[in-house]
Amino acid sequence: MVNIAVLTSGGGTNLEAILNAEERGDIKSGNVQIVIADRAGCYSLVRAENHKKKNLLLNRKELGRKEFEKRLVETLICEKIDLIVLAGFLSILSEDFTEFYRDRIINIHPSLIPSFSGEGYYGLKVHEAALKRGVKLTGATVHLVNEIPDGGKILFQKAVEVKDGDTPEALQKRVMEEAEWIILPMAVEYMADKIDKERV
Ligand code: GRF
Repeated sequence: MVNIAVLTSGGGTNLEAILNAEERGDIKSGNVQIVIADRAGCYSLVRAENHKKKNLLLNRKELGRKEFEKRLVETLICEKIDLIVLAGFLSILSEDFTEFYRDRIINIHPSLIPSFSGEGYYGLKVHEAALKRGVKLTGATVHLVNEIPDGGKILFQKAVEVKDGDTPEALQKRVMEEAEWIILPMAVEYMADKIDKERV
């Protein structure tokens, strides 16, 4: 059984999808041990409480980047974490961190990478760019995390239709409902199973 940590910065709807999948038995090779938020007021911590999951606020603004990462690594080591899931997580992680946890960190990005990805593309900005470009299809991607923003190996993708008159908010909601919340739990089970099998 693989120990999983979920890192968040916001509402935690992707976290909710993971925890619901775990409770449904769709994630059977791993267990979410802890939910971590990097800023105050994240509803993701409320969702963790509701699912009786250990949770922790590491306030990056108050701690500063170095102390934040130091506390983060201490927590991950203490919890014996094997797989880290970035679910709406907005802090940049250092190259030392991503190297230390090479091939053990996955991220959900709200577009079909390489479109609308990389530096400066996050949250609503991604959907604003997709609408501005006029793409007919967008979607979500789960990828391994390395030192390049949104640059790691692509693991899962799911396409979503852009509809006439879509606002960025409407498109974001559809991408979350029809893509993110489906492929992220799948990717968590895929990675947990892979890590579990590598250990035997
Ligand atoms: C969503 O736009 C998601 O695509 C991105 O972060 C935002 C918030 O996600 N990864 P959540 O509701 O906090 O999971």
